[in-house]
Amino acid sequence: MDKVKLLEQLKSEILEDLSLPLRESNLVFGEGSPDAEVMFIGEAPGFYEDREGRPFVGQAGKLLDKLIEEVGWRREQVYITNIVKRRPPANRDPLPEEIKTYEPYLKTQIEILNPKIIAPLGRFGMNYFLPYAKISKDQGQVFWWQDRLIYPLYHPAAALRSTAVLTELKKSFQKLPQLVKDFDSLLAERKITAKKSPLDLEVPKNNQNKLF
Ligand code: URA
Repeated sequence: MDKVKLLEQLKSEILEDLSLPLRESNLVFGEGSPDAEVMFIGEAPGFYEDREGRPFVGQAGKLLDKLIEEVGWRREQVYITNIVKRRPPANRDPLPEEIKTYEPYLKTQIEILNPKIIAPLGRFGMNYFLPYAKISKDQGQVFWWQDRLIYPLYHPAAALRSTAVLTELKKSFQKLPQLVKDFDSLLAERKITAKKSPLDLEVPKNNQNKLF
């Protein structure tokens, strides 16, 4: 089955899953190219996302669009979604239990899309992949996760509140195109290293397989 059909099927499964929390809000499944090399993952939809059923369409989304365009891409070229796929009341942070219940759907969405690079936006998305990471220390750093690169970035909403964060976010965004270009050779190198010395790749938990 092709990716579009698989994604549609996954969306139907979420809609039919009555055990999921936040069902009073609309489903914001995610959107973008099914062949995207880069997947952005935010935390949860807000007011405008709930209203439109689309991720990152409010103020933070406008900044995200601008950042994507500044590196020479278009929004439709990447894929954008959230870890929790329905809006928590009054835009509160998603609860650990909510993250946990939506987690299997995010995992399947990633498997279907098969992106090279996952860029979590903010700490909730980041901690799904890197439970020990700290956003101020690890944003803009590159990590391996199941043969994909994880590139944590500040959440655009945080960048709207702080010029210093915006500067860092822009700086990290500028490195994305080169990371996409380098991905195949980095992966090939990783596989050779793994063959030569598999034990070297067993990284202590708090080091989380940081690449550079
Ligand atoms: N913030 C998020 O984390 N996700 C959205 O879709 C919008 C704002």
